Amino acid sequence: MKQPILKRLFWANMLLFPICTGALAATQQATTDSELIQRGEYLSRAGDCMACHSIEGKPAYSGGLAIKSGLGVIYSTNITPDKSVGIGNYSEQQFADAVRNGIRADGSHLYPAMPYPDYAKITDKDIHALYTYFMNKVPASSHQPPKTDLSFPFNQRWGMTFWNWTFGNDTAFVPIKGASEQVNRGAYLVEGLGHCGSCHTPRGIGMQEKAYDHQDDIFLSGGDLNGWSVPSLRGIPRWTNQEIVDYLQTGRNDKAGVGGEMTSVIYHSTSHMSEDDLSAIAVYLKHLGGNPALTKSDDKANQATTVKLTAAKNLTLGERLYVDNCGACHFVDGKGAPKAFPELDGASIINAPSPDGLVHIILQGAQLPSTAKAPSTLMMPGFSQRLNDKEVAELATFLRQGWSNHANKVTVEQVKKVRDSLEQDNKK
Ligand code: HEC
Ligand code: HEC
Ligand code: HEC
Repeated sequence: MKQPILKRLFWANMLLFPICTGALAATQQATTDSELIQRGEYLSRAGDCMACHSIEGKPAYSGGLAIKSGLGVIYSTNITPDKSVGIGNYSEQQFADAVRNGIRADGSHLYPAMPYPDYAKITDKDIHALYTYFMNKVPASSHQPPKTDLSFPFNQRWGMTFWNWTFGNDTAFVPIKGASEQVNRGAYLVEGLGHCGSCHTPRGIGMQEKAYDHQDDIFLSGGDLNGWSVPSLRGIPRWTNQEIVDYLQTGRNDKAGVGGEMTSVIYHSTSHMSEDDLSAIAVYLKHLGGNPALTKSDDKANQATTVKLTAAKNLTLGERLYVDNCGACHFVDGKGAPKAFPELDGASIINAPSPDGLVHIILQGAQLPSTAKAPSTLMMPGFSQRLNDKEVAELATFLRQGWSNHANKVTVEQVKKVRDSLEQDNKK
């Protein structure tokens, strides 16, 4: 990363020096601007603006992602500096109002599919850097994404005023008293720009996040995303700080591999963040304190299953399906192999309240993202062709109750529901 910036500064200096007499002042100006722009770009990664405002095959930040919400489909907008379809005419104050308060330049309200209740915590300084980056570095694109067209009464954007009063959040970041600077850096990133709570905090009756920061124990205690259980981030007792950093940087660590919507968070956002910031996030999550309800693998409980699978006698249908289809990669002890095949013993996705995420992975497989620090893309094959609903239910039940796991059994109906929704998605 360092090389190109130095090169750019070098050329900026070379070009400016002979031309102006006030060369020094001009160079300093260029340096501050390019540093500011670079910081803004970094913050846009930390805020994951890309994930929602870009789609494949269209210019970066030109919008068009269809976001399914309780109200209907909401399309993200073009936030390139184009003056007709983008935000080219936005002043910095108008940009700040949109990002932190959900109010557009024309005064109309945004839907909270844009996570402004979380972004409310972004400081003025960071807004300034983000604005400078979007206005000066992002290429303008005239691509017009589809317009959001909700049915009555949700098409009445002014109605969001009431939502904001009742459920929204517009409070600035509150540091944790007595905590270190590092913990508070992590808190600022997670609670604000990272908007981690938008998926990891349970939602209430208005689809709002039930809490927006560390002052409430429900914050980051786990959520649900279209049926896929999103794990709690409070303390993550089964992982070390380094394992949290590895996961956020590469999508894998010695125990787990990422799946579902978190894959895009890692690919677009956290894999681009500095080691210091990721460490701060890990330290903050640990600071939130453990949740005793969370599972951790336990060697004693693990033994019984491992011994039975190794002997391979009188196996249940679920156990046999595991040995035949999964054991080659995840092993009879369910421990997998570090940074390649995730540990299934104690995994959040297996012990989640809803089995949908687990069933989804068994049917469809998964692929670890390729990131700068871990470029290989490891595949988990899908088993939708090979296993019927009853077999998947038996296999998933075994996984949720084998080794030291302890979660409810899975029914054939639950498997059928996930299979049907995957088939519908694949048709689109
Ligand atoms: C989770 C998805 C999501 C993320 C992440 C996200 N946005 Fe948005 N954003 C949206 C959606 C959807 C809209 C349009 C909402 C509507 O039509 O009411 C929007 C609208 C906006 C607007 C208003 C533009 C206009 O005039 O319509 C701005 C500005 C904006 N986003 C900036 C950002 C920035 C900057 C970031 C990163 C810090 C970001 N967004 C991250 C989903 C997202
Ligand atoms: C768009 C929704 C979404 C957002 C935003 C999001 N996550 Fe996640 N996260 C998930 C899902 C879904 C999983 C479960 C992944 C799986 O099942 O493999 C997950 C898993 C994780 C895990 C693994 C926990 C475990 O016990 O296995 C960590 C750590 C994590 N997320 C951290 C974060 C952090 C930090 C942020 C903010 C920077 C964040 N997430 C933002 C959806 C999200
Ligand atoms: C060819 C090797 C291979 C086989 C066979 C295989 N897996 Fe996987 N599995 C992987 C890899 C690689 C990942 C990581 C991919 C990811 O999470 O994106 C993974 C991920 C998973 C996860 C998600 C773990 C987490 O922490 O999020 C589960 C659950 C899982 N496998 C279960 C199974 C089951 C059940 C079977 C048998 C039906 C199976 N796997 C067969 C390689 C394999």
